[in-house]
Amino acid sequence: MSAEPAMQPGADDAPIFLRDLWYMAALSNTVAKGAMRRQMLLGEPVLIGRMRDGRAFALRDICPHRGVPLSAGRVLPENTVECPYHGWRFKADGGCTLIPSLVDGQDIDATKIRVRAYPVREQDGLIWVYFAANEHEEPKTEPPRVPVPNAKPRWVESQTFTCGIDHAVIGLMDPAHAPYVHGRWWWRVSPREKAKHYEPSANGFVMTRHAPSKTAYKIIGGADVSTEITFELPSTRFENIRGTIFGRQVDVSGLTVCTPIDANNTQVTQIFFWPAWLGFLKPFFMILGPTFLADDRRIVELQKQGLAFNPTLMLIQDSDMPAMWYHRLKKAWAESAQNGTPFVNPVKERTLRWRS
Ligand code: FES
Ligand SMILES: [Fe+2]
Repeated sequence: MSAEPAMQPGADDAPIFLRDLWYMAALSNTVAKGAMRRQMLLGEPVLIGRMRDGRAFALRDICPHRGVPLSAGRVLPENTVECPYHGWRFKADGGCTLIPSLVDGQDIDATKIRVRAYPVREQDGLIWVYFAANEHEEPKTEPPRVPVPNAKPRWVESQTFTCGIDHAVIGLMDPAHAPYVHGRWWWRVSPREKAKHYEPSANGFVMTRHAPSKTAYKIIGGADVSTEITFELPSTRFENIRGTIFGRQVDVSGLTVCTPIDANNTQVTQIFFWPAWLGFLKPFFMILGPTFLADDRRIVELQKQGLAFNPTLMLIQDSDMPAMWYHRLKKAWAESAQNGTPFVNPVKERTLRWRS
């Protein structure tokens, strides 16, 4: 019998989007100095931009005066954003610095006017944006670090999945789909029984370090190659591969993030990080990456045809256990936010067994 009760996908009573967490919004090298763009994130219009001094910032992309997108304006040399409608200016922290139409004696205090500013962190070549439940509160956590020294995105693939974040996340952590969705002569191994050990982590869980079964991993470090796979709320998955090449220890990290655009669309981005001297790995990822993410996107599009009828679905032991953990983590996160109590990770250490 199952060690834990089955659970309906989506039956976590949590809001669609969790708050008080960091979401990966953009790659650093796609936002030049003085550039701005409008991005939908968690159903909200967000201006992602970079001031002339190099600082990345994120503002609600709605001018508090009369609603025009600030992203349609310009970044001024003094490091403010100028609205294209009446020229109001805003700093990266959202404070208004100028209302050009005012004349002497009109005592509106511009500094009392604000547009929502989202906390931003730029690290490892990535721009993370914090979505607080209460916009006036400081971040309670920091975004995840890539566990590779001087991490730089070496290879990136990003696709829009036409599904909500839950199905995107679950599809990526699902161990049983690989032989069917990603089956190819050069990747497929006949399904066999797997047993993988899992432990809870801060806001998620980890498939602990083990020798991967696919021979393709040998390209990164020969016979002693090992890998661990981590998942952290809201939607961050790392595969951390360690091996030895030319007698040197090598760490390669594959990050997959699901960034919600809105309730029905999710940007899924896969980024690989490796030390500069491993440049010869690139062709390997150029072949594998787009294919794999496109496979996952296609199956999600097929799934949509079924989900349109709002069917009852199943999550089964043990192969859907990571999906069940995801729902439990979400539920626990939402409850802790709602009740103001500390988050308690519901995942228990366990070995999962399945055939794939
Ligand atoms: S709408 Fe932005 S300044 Fe008027
Ligand atoms: Fe997949």
